[in-house]
Amino acid sequence: MLPDGYSSSKKKDAYWDDVCGQEVSKMARIRCMMQTFDIRTFIVLFLVIPIGFTGVYFHGQKITYFLRPLWQSPPKPFITIPHYYHENVSMDSLCKLHGWNLRDYPRKVYDAVLFNNEIDMLTIRWKELHPYVTQFVLLETNSTFTSIPKPHYFAINRERFDFAEPRLTYGTIGGRFKKGENPFVEEAYQRVALDQLLKIAGIEDGDLLIMSDVDEIPSAHTIDLLRWCDGPPPILHLNLNNYLYSFEFNVDHSSWRASVHQYQKGKTRYAHYRQTDYLLAESGWHCSFCFRKITDFVFKMKAYSHTDRVRLSHFLDPKRIQNVICNGDDLYDMLPEEYTFKDIIAKMGPIPHSYSAVHLPSYLLNNADEYRYLLPGNCIREAG
Ligand SMILES: *[C@@H]1O[C@H](CO)[C@@H](O)[C@H](O)[C@H]1NC(C)=O
Ligand SMILES: *[C@@H]1O[C@H](CO)[C@@H](O)[C@H](O)[C@H]1NC(C)=O
Repeated sequence: MLPDGYSSSKKKDAYWDDVCGQEVSKMARIRCMMQTFDIRTFIVLFLVIPIGFTGVYFHGQKITYFLRPLWQSPPKPFITIPHYYHENVSMDSLCKLHGWNLRDYPRKVYDAVLFNNEIDMLTIRWKELHPYVTQFVLLETNSTFTSIPKPHYFAINRERFDFAEPRLTYGTIGGRFKKGENPFVEEAYQRVALDQLLKIAGIEDGDLLIMSDVDEIPSAHTIDLLRWCDGPPPILHLNLNNYLYSFEFNVDHSSWRASVHQYQKGKTRYAHYRQTDYLLAESGWHCSFCFRKITDFVFKMKAYSHTDRVRLSHFLDPKRIQNVICNGDDLYDMLPEEYTFKDIIAKMGPIPHSYSAVHLPSYLLNNADEYRYLLPGNCIREAG
């Protein structure tokens, strides 16, 4: 005995055979084909599949980012060192609060950066760190990481940095202009050149070396603490407050790439990845894409290491960029890079506006007219 279901479906086949089995007119044949496609098959074939493909084509990156928690586990968590500071507490007390000891004299401090075109960020950075830095070391090339030729912007604007000139070690190297190469290779090459420049600047064992991008700005009191105390880990990442476009958009508190090293000849290499488990809390600001002009955004989007993100040329439309900035949206229309669904969902959508300009770099507040665009409530950018 066959089960009921089997026999009845068999019956149905037979029924279709009766109607469409024999050769009939062309019209009847087409009608027969249409009958075999029931309406659901039709919807799947001509609506769901094409929409699905279009969706994956345009939002593929979003989908992979959303599914990131499935294919990538979070990095090992940092050991965060609590950070104590108040301007009215003595350095001796501050060192002790951290379990460290006050030194007889401060360590020398070298601040080394690869410079692209971030004139304003560099000014705010150097003014913030100026009281405590022994040598500012700056390297620039005539190539972006993605092998686009660029002028030596620092050289062109050098007279603006007169205040740093007595402590400046400046160097240039020619870009390699290898088309189609992974931009991280050019970046690594430039960082090796920076190691050479540091030696020229006179760095010695035990000196402090700040390794960070121009827009990752350690607060002055953080560097003062590290140069005056004995006891901090010899390599220490700095936990910075993350901002996007300006200090109006406080993305989160989790920037960690900047680091401070007690220099060791032959061992210390300039790097911008994770080098230790130690992270000092609340140590400054990371202001990404904090540019004065719309054209700066376009330049950076083209020159950025992750060029694959510039998928559609409409991303570079100035009107769109201006709207994105004022809304706190994502320039690349991407999802947040997080490791858990909870964090991704919590960060989806625009960044909320911040109305706080408390605890920002002092030079910024003392020169607010010049840097208005970095402060809350001033999202409109110059076009040119
Ligand atoms: C700072 O400390 C001094 C003495 O140590 C004290 O007189 C003064 O009131 C303090 N100022 C603040 C703002 O706490
Ligand atoms: C970049 O600089 C190097 C070395 O100074 C030079 O040889 C090269 O021609 C420059 N390239 C461009 C595109 O400016």
